[in-house]
Amino acid sequence: MTDKARSSTSTEQFQQAFWVVVPAAGVGERMLADRPKQYLPLAGKSVLEQTLNRLLSHPGIIGVVLVLAEDDSYWEQTELVTEKRILITRGGEQRFHSVLNGLKRLAEIIPKQDWVMVHDAARPCISHDDLNSLILATPKTKDGLVLGAPVRDTMKQVDSSAQVLSTLDRSCLWHAFTPQVFRLGELEAALTACLDKNLPVTDEASAMEYCGYHPQMVQGSEHNIKITRPKDLCLAEMILKTVAEEQE
Ligand code: CTP
Ligand code: MG
Repeated sequence: MTDKARSSTSTEQFQQAFWVVVPAAGVGERMLADRPKQYLPLAGKSVLEQTLNRLLSHPGIIGVVLVLAEDDSYWEQTELVTEKRILITRGGEQRFHSVLNGLKRLAEIIPKQDWVMVHDAARPCISHDDLNSLILATPKTKDGLVLGAPVRDTMKQVDSSAQVLSTLDRSCLWHAFTPQVFRLGELEAALTACLDKNLPVTDEASAMEYCGYHPQMVQGSEHNIKITRPKDLCLAEMILKTVAEEQE
């Protein structure tokens, strides 16, 4: 089903309306640009606006907690600055500090047992089909969900000089994307535990795993790329153009 067809589904179809925490407080070092990558132009808007429009146009999403850098001077200039469904809070040193700040803001307005999504500002190609898959899988999970895809290439384990040690069993390996879905209180506690123990947190799921949870992978589109390096913008532009053409 296309995004257009899915978008015509109503909020009532979903058991819970989701809040999404969107970390957007990074500097985008690898992008080598003159501004944080979430404010670079993409298909007529900024990367961040594309991401937020994708989320807020889905009937299962009630609002966004947007996490911005302390010294962000770009947000005020965007068209979405007056959008009532976006709450703003401030970011931290690393991504997971920013996510934790977003969760704390959310805990002021919704119960801790509610499911929440976390989605990177730098993934503007998230589709409504993928959001549907996550929302419809939520009632069947206990420990949370991670959008992702099985790896396709042969995977090698190497030493520090890139010499091959072994070939890994590909059938057990997935790429992890965002959105990821967890109960607000459980994710906040897991991230806080990692912070206290100084453990590295690469995504929300890794913090949950540390606390003994086993989230479920949900297969999503490989078009849901993260804008990381300059060439990714061209790729994202092509993906968004293809989606727009499919909807015409
Ligand atoms: N992010 C954040 N707070 C941080 C670091 C990152 O909110 N302290 C956000 C980014 O804005 C991005 C998402 O987390 O939307 C994913 O992080 P990443 O792709 O690593 O973005 P950057 O950290 O900005 O990029 P880089 O690592 O190249 O500097
Ligand atoms: Mg980073």
